[in-house]
Amino acid sequence: MRLLTILFTAVCLFPLALKAQQKIYLDELDLSRSSSGWKVPQMRKAVDYDTIRIYGKRYSRGVGTHATSKMEIWLDGKVKRFYTEVGVDDKVAKAAKEGKHLGEVAFTILADGQRVYYSDTVRANEPARKVDLNLTGVSRLIMYADQLGPSHHDHIDYADAYFEYEGTPPYAAMETSELPYILTPLPLNAPQYNGAARYGVSPGKPILIKLAVSGKEPLQIKPTKLPRGLKLDAAARCIRGSISQKGKQTLLLEASNKFGKQAFSFDIVVGDTLQLTPPMGWNSWNCWGMEVSAKSIKQVAESFSKFGLDKYGWSYINIDDGWQGERDASGKITTNAKFPDMKKLADSVHGMGYKIGIYSSPGEKTCGGLPGSFGFESNDAKTYADWGMDYLKYDWCSYKEKVGKNATAQQHIDAYKKISNALKATDRDIVLSLCQYGEQNVEKWGSQAGGSLWRTTGDIIDTWESVDQIINLQNHTQPYAGPGRYNDPDMLVVGQLGWSSKIRATRLTPSEQYTHITMWSVLAAPLLLGCDLTKLDPFTLNLITNREVNAINQDVLGKQAVRVFQDTVAFPFAQKNFWEVWKKPLANGEYALAIINRGYDGGTFTLRPSKAGLKSISKLRDCWRQKDLSFKTELDIDIPPHGSYLLRVRE
Ligand code: GAL
Repeated sequence: MRLLTILFTAVCLFPLALKAQQKIYLDELDLSRSSSGWKVPQMRKAVDYDTIRIYGKRYSRGVGTHATSKMEIWLDGKVKRFYTEVGVDDKVAKAAKEGKHLGEVAFTILADGQRVYYSDTVRANEPARKVDLNLTGVSRLIMYADQLGPSHHDHIDYADAYFEYEGTPPYAAMETSELPYILTPLPLNAPQYNGAARYGVSPGKPILIKLAVSGKEPLQIKPTKLPRGLKLDAAARCIRGSISQKGKQTLLLEASNKFGKQAFSFDIVVGDTLQLTPPMGWNSWNCWGMEVSAKSIKQVAESFSKFGLDKYGWSYINIDDGWQGERDASGKITTNAKFPDMKKLADSVHGMGYKIGIYSSPGEKTCGGLPGSFGFESNDAKTYADWGMDYLKYDWCSYKEKVGKNATAQQHIDAYKKISNALKATDRDIVLSLCQYGEQNVEKWGSQAGGSLWRTTGDIIDTWESVDQIINLQNHTQPYAGPGRYNDPDMLVVGQLGWSSKIRATRLTPSEQYTHITMWSVLAAPLLLGCDLTKLDPFTLNLITNREVNAINQDVLGKQAVRVFQDTVAFPFAQKNFWEVWKKPLANGEYALAIINRGYDGGTFTLRPSKAGLKSISKLRDCWRQKDLSFKTELDIDIPPHGSYLLRVRE
């Protein structure tokens, strides 16, 4: 009888139980496609894998991520309540107390596009804010955390976060919705020169310049006037030789095919400054990480030629961390088994007309834990020169063990000078790239330390939050850029990436990729691809072979763009439209303007001269589409979310 009563009650209450409220924690959702400026959201852990802690309170549930970041959750009208505590993780608190990283962020929550929560500025060492939202009927929830301060070390937590729902549980959005769209028109059949107008070399050192000429093959290049000491290598389409006299020399050449002839010229300035325009090429890190090999480097060089990247100025092929073996008894660095013969590899890359780069560190170990150059700087510089290297990226990582976490600018300068002097003493030009993540205002002394470029931020990843946050950190470095000295916002994250042999497509949307290239172009940033070039798709190829866009990056004035317009409400970034205009002066008196939509919705931007810091606009050209636009007093431009326009204007 008792059993029957229980069964009866259970059957009657079953439909009610189905409708009862259920609870699911945010950390139970699959947030792997959520976008974050650093790493991926961590479940029941802070973003650095430690326990979630805000203002001394420990939380066993929650999600640790980073500002900036975005989480998009579909609720399908089933969620009644969302509860979370938000704050800056205590990991940042210590650094904030030391005045190092401020940890200033803002949390914004949008329910079906309406802002239902905004935290205002939240700082490290503050108690968590409690958020308790009634979300009845809401379909889509977006949670943004924006970085407000200049620091890029903002670890944040959604602690104890859960949903109360009825029926089906909420789930995280998985895919980006934008399809690739092609902007760069097809190249002309007739020859066109797309290379830099000026190259810097040292007196008497070997010169190698790949000639960037597009046009239908077969195409011939002939010299009209070459300075003594230089030769055209017609097969590899490059200039080789050396010039011992200091000064400027102009080269005249002619490219022809059955569609026409094109005379072109450029200067070689023999002197003390290398890299008179930003380096353009490829680096192995964002692609294969530590798994790089000689075989893959060879394939990159072949892909450069196969896809015609050389015709648009891409010429460096740089090996990042992962090539080193041990030091031999004489102190000479050797290669590991993946690089059986470095000299042979460099010779073959040079044979094809490309330059080759390598990587090391001032510490005993590189960031990947392989031998660094500490104590062997001159030896290593000589070895690199013997192998035929043209470029060295020099990291920082384990050098912290020598000089402490808070090394002074002078300690940085000393470390980098040691290697730059050693490189200068060799018989080759080896461009030095500093990689210490922008510490101690590197933009102010990077050139003095012998660098031609220096990283201004931590490592980029392929999320909008990472790219956006890096863009936001560039404005103040602008005065220090110029020919032979570039702020480096890190390598490009377009195409197929992986940081390992697990290669996958970039997580940036097509519009975000256009903005990435647009901004790196106006910032006069080094352009180093980091994608698997054997898997170069038509969209990525089109993106990186726009002669007018690349020309803005390679402009010989070498100026970096400055932000001239920003919507009055600068924060939070999580706005429908959030417009910025960046302006880069060009050598011919024109300006390049990048108009970017940092907001989450597409919209119309009305361009007026005043928004570009100009009195008037007499000529306007859309560089991506390579067409002139007519302009009277203003122009409405439609730009997708996170998308951009790149214009060339005359005042
Ligand atoms: C990082 C650097 C990366 C890559 C890596 C190699 O510190 O920022 O770009 O070079 O080291 O271990």
